[in-house]
Parts: sequence; C-alpha cells; structure tokens
Amino acid sequence: MTVEEPHGAVALIVNSQGEYLLHLRDNFPHIAFPGMWSLLGGCRDGDETPEQTIVRELDEEAGLRLADLKHYTTVTSTPSDGESGPVAIFVGHWDGDADALPLSEGVMLRWFAPTMVPRLVMVPWAAQAITQHSTALAHTAAYWDPIYEEGKDWRPVTDAEMAAFASHAEPRPGQCAVDLGCGTGRLARRLHTMGYRVTGVEISAAALAKAREDPSPGPTWLVHDIQTGPPPGIAPGSVDVITLRLVIAFIPDRPALMEQARALLRPEGLLYLVTPVVERVPADRRPIGLTGEEIKDLCRTWDTVGRWEMDWNDCLLLRPGRRQGRP
Ligand SMILES: C[S@@+](CC[C@H](N)C(=O)[O-])C[C@H]1O[C@@H](n2cnc3c(N)ncnc32)[C@H](O)[C@@H]1O
Repeated sequence: MTVEEPHGAVALIVNSQGEYLLHLRDNFPHIAFPGMWSLLGGCRDGDETPEQTIVRELDEEAGLRLADLKHYTTVTSTPSDGESGPVAIFVGHWDGDADALPLSEGVMLRWFAPTMVPRLVMVPWAAQAITQHSTALAHTAAYWDPIYEEGKDWRPVTDAEMAAFASHAEPRPGQCAVDLGCGTGRLARRLHTMGYRVTGVEISAAALAKAREDPSPGPTWLVHDIQTGPPPGIAPGSVDVITLRLVIAFIPDRPALMEQARALLRPEGLLYLVTPVVERVPADRRPIGLTGEEIKDLCRTWDTVGRWEMDWNDCLLLRPGRRQGRP
C-alpha cells in the first residue's frame, strides 16, 4: 500500500492562555474554504517535507518563526472540502500580538479560546484538530479555570434528569454522596436537596468559587485532582452514591478512576455515570465523549442497575460487581 504524502501543512499555534491563532481566509471563490477561519499554513512546494512546508508557510504568510514546532497529527481533507488529501498538522507555542504580524494573505489573524470554535465558520478538520488538541489538556486546572472564569457552564441538571436518577437510585436521607468533577456544583446541590450528605470534588478552584457563591447550606466542597487518588477524608467503602457527570471523557486513565469509585463505594453503593456517546455527538465535539465500545469496556465488571439516554448522553447507574479474581 502506498501512503500518500501530505499535500500541505498547517500549524496549531497556542499561547500561554490556551488560545489558538486562527486565520480568516479571503472570500475568493477560486480558493479552498473561502471566507472561513482556519490555521496558518499551506500547500507543499515541490519536494518539500511537511516540516519544510510549515516553516516556509508561517514565514511567508505571517513572518512567524517558531522554534518548537512539532508534528501533532495528519488529517484528511475530503474532496467536498474543496481540496483533498492528507494535511500535516504541527503544534507550536507563541505569545504575541496577532495584529502586529505582517499578514501577506487572508483577512486577519485572531486569538480564540477553544470554546469559541463551535461559534465560528471554520474549516471542519481544523476545528476538529483544535477540539482534539485542547481536550487532551482537559484534566488540568489550567484548562478549566479560564473556562469557568468566563462564566461558561454545562448541560443544566433538570428535574427530568433527577427524576430518572431517583427512580433507579431510590435515595434515602442521610446517605453519603460524592460528586467527582462537580464543576459549579449544580448536581451536588440537587443531591443535597434530596437528603444526601454531599461532597463536591473539583480540580478547578474557579468552578468551586462559583459553587460557593450560593451561601445556603449545601455540600462540602473540595479542590482535588481525582487522577491523584481518592479525595482526602473520604474512607474506602463509605460512600452510597458516586456521581461522574460529563467528566470521564476528560480523564486519561479512566479504568483507574472506575477502580477508585469502586473502592470508595459501599458494596451496595451506586455509581451514576453520565457521558456523551461519540456516535451521537456532532463531529467537532467528539473528544468530549466515549464510543459505545469504550463505555461497554469500562462497565464490564459492574452490574447495570439502570441505563437511559439523555440527548447525546448515556446515563448509567452501576453497582460494583465482584472484581475479577476475587471471591
Ligand atoms: C464538563 S465539566 C462537567 C461538570 C459537572 N460535572 C456538570 O455536570 O456540570 C467537567 C468537569 O470535570 C472537572 N475535572 C476534569 N479533570 C478533573 C480532575 N482530574 N479532577 C477533578 N475534576 C476534574 C473539570 O474541572 C470540570 O469541572
């Protein structure tokens, strides 16, 4: 099989705020992707390697010379995009004024947070590459804090969601619940209202600052990175309900997190797992979800007490099954 050489190279240029440098292309009908936001870069010249192409293109288009350019991935631009074939994507770091760059083609350069990508008319594979790259950093406070500081939040916790949860979980007042990756604490507060004693655990201090804005009695809030182990002060085998809502996709070692949940739960305890399913989310949001196969794999050693769909999310209520090799 012959592997086609990339016909072009582009760069994901990221600054210290986690923003991406985007290029607004000219709106000429004879060029590919007219009038769309894309990444700086362009087509291969002669026998150039992708590395030579990106270095030349950044210099020619914007006078940029980046010392740390690294190959990140190769995507395929389909014929319906206006041009076809593999495009090599590089990553580099640069902190600077986009307006001060001597742009030789296109309309302008701007820094955008990755959360803005779905709101722009963008070259589809460039949007996907940004989402993929930014989501890979999504288990750090440095990624989440600015998002919460901007005032962003996620799918609201509705009465319907809580009713579905309660019909399977049959909560009893005084039971202990721990919401891992609780964000601004909306689910944790709902659980508190149902009578649970709740601890909300979050890596982002900015999210918990929002959670604490409500002065009424409620959950205990804990800043903690759930990848480093169980939250301090919560004894193994002591928790009735653990919730992991819209979190698991962002955790690199998911099996370890599932084992952490199992160790914290009482034998009859429940794990409420909510995750977008890749097969149902829009193409440019895929990194926020898990495939059906990945979900099946993660839950293999758990007993399913309830399972239902909530738009593009699957909601699962799981009881710790017996660990393999244990009586
Ligand atoms: C999409 S938000 C969902 C927030 C909340 N569960 C909800 O349903 O609204 C994902 C959350 O996971 C948190 N998170 C990501 N990695 C984490 C980690 N390693 N430890 C603790 N929280 C983490 C993020 O800070 C973020 O608040």
